Amino acid sequence: MTLPSGDEVWALTKHEDIRAMLTDPRFSSNRQNPNFPLLLTGRRRITNFRASLISMDPPEHGPARREVVGEFTVKRMAALQPRIQQIVDEHIDAILAGPKPADLVQALSLPVPSLVICELLGVPYADHEFFQSRSSRLLRRTTPAEERQACVEELRGYLRDLLERKENEPGDDLLTRQLAKSDDREEVVALGFLLLIAGHETTANMISLGAMTLLEHPDQLAELRADPSKTPSAVEELLRYFTIAEFATSRVAVEDVEIGGVTIHRGEGVVGLANTANRDPEVFDHADDLDLGRGARNHVAFGFGAHQCLGQNLARMELQIVFDTLFRRIPGLRLATPVDELPFKDDANIYGLYELPVTW
Ligand code: HEM
Repeated sequence: MTLPSGDEVWALTKHEDIRAMLTDPRFSSNRQNPNFPLLLTGRRRITNFRASLISMDPPEHGPARREVVGEFTVKRMAALQPRIQQIVDEHIDAILAGPKPADLVQALSLPVPSLVICELLGVPYADHEFFQSRSSRLLRRTTPAEERQACVEELRGYLRDLLERKENEPGDDLLTRQLAKSDDREEVVALGFLLLIAGHETTANMISLGAMTLLEHPDQLAELRADPSKTPSAVEELLRYFTIAEFATSRVAVEDVEIGGVTIHRGEGVVGLANTANRDPEVFDHADDLDLGRGARNHVAFGFGAHQCLGQNLARMELQIVFDTLFRRIPGLRLATPVDELPFKDDANIYGLYELPVTW
């Protein structure tokens, strides 16, 4: 396929082929490689970019991931549950006390994951407008290269100052702990940058799209309300159905590799179309239908292999708590704007909604 930049790359569409690529060390995640497929218009490469986890290959990737993986275990995430529940409840209190219609994106989808990742990292939530505006501009495909570069520099500068403060006044947070383990502050800046962006834009969009979809499928929503033990499975199906990080699973071949009977040559870029893989009829029956009970655990919405999403336990828990609490506490919730008039993020690398007006 041809990218907006004019570059020609391979596109993998099958579930099996994407999983094969994502577990094959002959494909690199190095986003600085000039042949790595980026879905941006115009000049695209950001310079002076210190590699973070998502861009690393072996032998660097494994040890770097092991340094931080302990922060995201199921057990660690379970300990966060009461605090996430409290954050969700406070935001729903505010929605109920506020005017109708409410924009669910601003009132719930963005602030919940943003507050959670800020507390986890030790980033002051009071600065959320600063980093949310930069990260949303970075994720838009149409943002000019100069502006993208400026956003990266500003965010990195912000994190550098924050880490300097933490060196003098350590906190009980992820960034302080990483700083203590590492003798290289720039490495922690790169990790903080990745987690700050990955930690809220993704989950936020899934909250909005999930809430919209559940409201559009009242029969399935009623079943979920009647039995909240079905929520974990429903969340997997919503993740499959939308696959918001559709292009995150791209790579560049560093050797010749045969996939699906085709030879991909060294240096060629490959886009793994995770959304298409998640609708592969060989893996999912009636793949275009939403079926909250299907148990879609084998989806690739969080990727697959060594780079599989580090924050997936956190994302799952946030989504489960949000959907359970939202529909329990606001039983009369409904869309205030028809779906076909909603502003979808067709121009962003992480799919979602810019606004979701709801009433009750
Ligand atoms: C619904 C929410 C989310 C989705 C759909 C999602 C999706 C993904 C995908 C597809 C990848 C793989 C990229 C690749 O193969 O190159 C990934 C990696 C990653 N995600 Fe997520 N993510 C979500 C939430 C989060 C959260 C909440 C965090 C952090 C708290 C996070 C942190 C990361 C990190 C650090 C990586 C890189 C891991 C590595 O390279 O070893 N994500 N995510």
